Amino acid sequence: MTPSILFQNRRRFVRTLGLGAALFTVPGLFAEELMRTPRQTEGPFYPDHLPLDTDNDLIIVNDGATPALGDITHLSGRILDARGEPIRNALVEIWQVDGKGVYLHSRSNDHNQRDKNFQGFGRFLTGTTGEYYFRTIKPVPYPGRTPHIHFALKMKGREKWTTQCYIKGEPLNEKDGVYKGIQDPKARAAVTIDFAPIKGSKIGELAARFDIVMGFTPAV
Ligand SMILES: [Fe+2]
Repeated sequence: MTPSILFQNRRRFVRTLGLGAALFTVPGLFAEELMRTPRQTEGPFYPDHLPLDTDNDLIIVNDGATPALGDITHLSGRILDARGEPIRNALVEIWQVDGKGVYLHSRSNDHNQRDKNFQGFGRFLTGTTGEYYFRTIKPVPYPGRTPHIHFALKMKGREKWTTQCYIKGEPLNEKDGVYKGIQDPKARAAVTIDFAPIKGSKIGELAARFDIVMGFTPAV
């Protein structure tokens, strides 16, 4: 190889690197491609009395021996700002009906039928990666609604922000007024997630991933 070819190759290599670096540093470039997660109503069933146990494992209440009824789901995702950067110190709360369609709320349907082994509500505080994790159940329908999981995000200096996530491929979605209230198909897709079987799980566990993109960048 002659020195001139070496030089040319090195120049091309340097140019490529430069372009790569630019892609990662130009503010706002990546954000254009991120769909903001649509905000959804909190609904009437945020728990009116919090459980004694509010951790991120909704399958086991305190140190109970009996797990909740339902398809165990490992639900995770990241809380991101408008530029796609992780948001830390975001308190992520979820709540949903138990395997029988009952909320942890005194005005829920069939309140006395509630599955006492399901926590119904959980919390997770994000770290530097913006990641959250819950062990819960795959949501089931209840009268008037397609299956969904409610989310509330609490961040210092901001008002509470709520949304809901849905099961991809669930036929009831198309009949659900709250779901259909999201007009933009891309925004709808952003809250419609896969509940995929975990290979090798002997008890049929599922994994679901729901990233939440906020429409702002926190002040540091
Ligand atoms: Fe609900």
